Amino acid sequence: MGCGVDEESVENPYAFEAPPNFPAATYTFQNNPITEEGFELGRRLFYDGALSRDGSVSCASCHQQHVAFADPLHRLSIGVDERVGIRNAPAIQNVAFKKFFFWDGGVNHVDFVPIAAILNPLEMDETIANIVVKLQAEEKYKTRFRAAFKTDEINSQRMLHALSQFMVLMVSANSRYDRYIRNEGEVLNAAELRGLTAFQQKCTGCHATDLFTNDDFRNNGLDATFEKDNGRERITEYSGDRGKFKVPSLRNVALTKPYMHDGRFKTLEEVLMHYQSGVKDSETLDPLLRNNETLGIALSDQERSDILAFLLTLTDDSFIKDKRFSQPPN
Ligand code: HEC
Ligand code: HEC
Repeated sequence: MGCGVDEESVENPYAFEAPPNFPAATYTFQNNPITEEGFELGRRLFYDGALSRDGSVSCASCHQQHVAFADPLHRLSIGVDERVGIRNAPAIQNVAFKKFFFWDGGVNHVDFVPIAAILNPLEMDETIANIVVKLQAEEKYKTRFRAAFKTDEINSQRMLHALSQFMVLMVSANSRYDRYIRNEGEVLNAAELRGLTAFQQKCTGCHATDLFTNDDFRNNGLDATFEKDNGRERITEYSGDRGKFKVPSLRNVALTKPYMHDGRFKTLEEVLMHYQSGVKDSETLDPLLRNNETLGIALSDQERSDILAFLLTLTDDSFIKDKRFSQPPN
């Protein structure tokens, strides 16, 4: 006020804006409108070890901003007491556009994601009731909950809403690819453009739309039996879903190694070799990975290197450096 700036024209950093090249958002904003105070509370909670039993693990322990909120160091996630989880921690990005969360789609609304992480003995191993007690004991949280929700009562629903406000603003849509596709003056080089074309021919059957996922569950041939992790079948208890996992977005994929639900591949080259010659057969193997008698996706050396060049254009530096999502000062 009174500083000479036209308030209307100043962008509100807490307003949700859907990029024009994205499908429609799915988040129920009407039940949880984003405010600066709610977002900033959620940010503190995301970075606070108090959400775990012994204070040692925060959401950010497994979801680190510099790699689009994935975990670069561990094939399988590591929780309290160094307990080894069963899956690789995925990136957190474009949350407001998702229909399913987790590799098996076990959660279908982001508001409930933290409950799974908190209660999981291999992750935070804490109870919601204990967390509420811990937060109530901290003056700074009393103040922040009051500012965000206009009441002194700290409860689980408000805590979950604040975490969601923080996460749904994590929109990543400013990669070189985005600026190219939206005609914002970016150019892709010849290899990247060939890679885009090859990708459209061979990969968009699953990695569709500008979110690079069709939001479906598919078996991409990682295993013949899926005894260790049967994927979507865990949720539906239907054998036809054995070995099907959520098609992950490929945004920021150059950063989000290791790859696949169990982090088995360290590099994108390994991923491409898998599609070319590593696909294993099983009853639920996706038909797209079965061409007549041969398994996998036919890829020449040239196509592999072009697709790799294209995948690197999906990195969004402004997202991983966005100060709104960084560890808060207090
Ligand atoms: C110990 C490591 C760990 C901690 C701590 C952790 N997560 Fe995760 N997170 C994971 C793993 C592993 C998955 C995938 C789980 C699965 O697929 O079964 C995941 C999945 C997610 C997803 C879904 C992403 C997607 O696209 O499917 C979100 C969102 C998320 N976590 C947010 C959080 C929040 C918020 C917290 C803190 C309350 C948190 N996580 C704490 C490891 C962790
Ligand atoms: C039949 C559907 C399908 C097709 C076709 C497909 N993918 Fe995938 N992709 C998946 C699924 C499902 C996963 C996750 C599997 C898992 O972790 O169990 C995945 C995972 C990946 C990953 C790992 C991402 C991560 O965060 O771990 C990359 C990279 C990838 N695919 C690239 C490609 C490329 C490049 C092509 C084309 C050459 C392609 N995919 C074709 C379904 C598909």
